[in-house]
Amino acid sequence: MNPINHVAIIMDGNGRWGMKYKNSRNAGHKAGLKTVEKIIKETIKNNIKFLTLYAFSTENWKRPKKEINYLFNLLENFLINRIDELDKQNIKLKIIGNKQFSKSLNKLLIYSEKKTKNNKKLQINLALNYGSKIELVNAFKSIIKNKEVINIKNFTKHLQTKNIPDPDILIRTGDTNRLSNFLLWQIAYSEIFFEKKLWPAFNEKDYNKIIKKFKRIKRNFGGI
Ligand code: IPE
Ligand code: IPE
Ligand code: MG
Repeated sequence: MNPINHVAIIMDGNGRWGMKYKNSRNAGHKAGLKTVEKIIKETIKNNIKFLTLYAFSTENWKRPKKEINYLFNLLENFLINRIDELDKQNIKLKIIGNKQFSKSLNKLLIYSEKKTKNNKKLQINLALNYGSKIELVNAFKSIIKNKEVINIKNFTKHLQTKNIPDPDILIRTGDTNRLSNFLLWQIAYSEIFFEKKLWPAFNEKDYNKIIKKFKRIKRNFGGI
């Protein structure tokens, strides 16, 4: 059976869920946060050490300001209310993406990372203002600037995911079969699961079904 170190998730479908059931995209984002909590718990139960959640892409700035503000308020409140508890649960929070938000959110993110940095049970990588293409460009820039050797091993050290193993599983909810600029380098050999359900409707049972299926896949990594 395949071991699982790292699950990455593109949490898509909040807006459509919100419109369908509450006539509000933002209500979908709020409901999506509940799914995040469920999935964190289930990840710990499954003894998985890394969980990467795509929460806001570099392209999501194209959305209406009102929706963007709602999303970041949701995140800010979540961290204010829950960071102590996450810390007590031995969870480490890491942000991947560029921290170019309001002063107060930037401060809160840095505080949360610092507070939880020695925790060992689970590392949650929250992808915020994250885009894989800019991450790759920045990695090249930094290698060139430092006049370092360009090879796969060294290149990996210049990514925002340095010290994080590549995802074993990538899940995208929301009935959409694309990657939307997420971890393009890191998912070279991930097993990909596209889920029909919208993120707020995704639950522990769906997650465990994927985990069970993954465990039985024959992973070749180019071999036979
Ligand atoms: C959540 O889903 C992803 C975020 C960018 C927060 P969406 O907001 O993209 O939901 P849909 O795809 O419009 O339904
Ligand atoms: C991907 O979802 C980004 C996140 C889940 C944060 P999007 O809804 O932004 O993706 P596209 O625009 O449909 O490709
Ligand atoms: Mg979407």
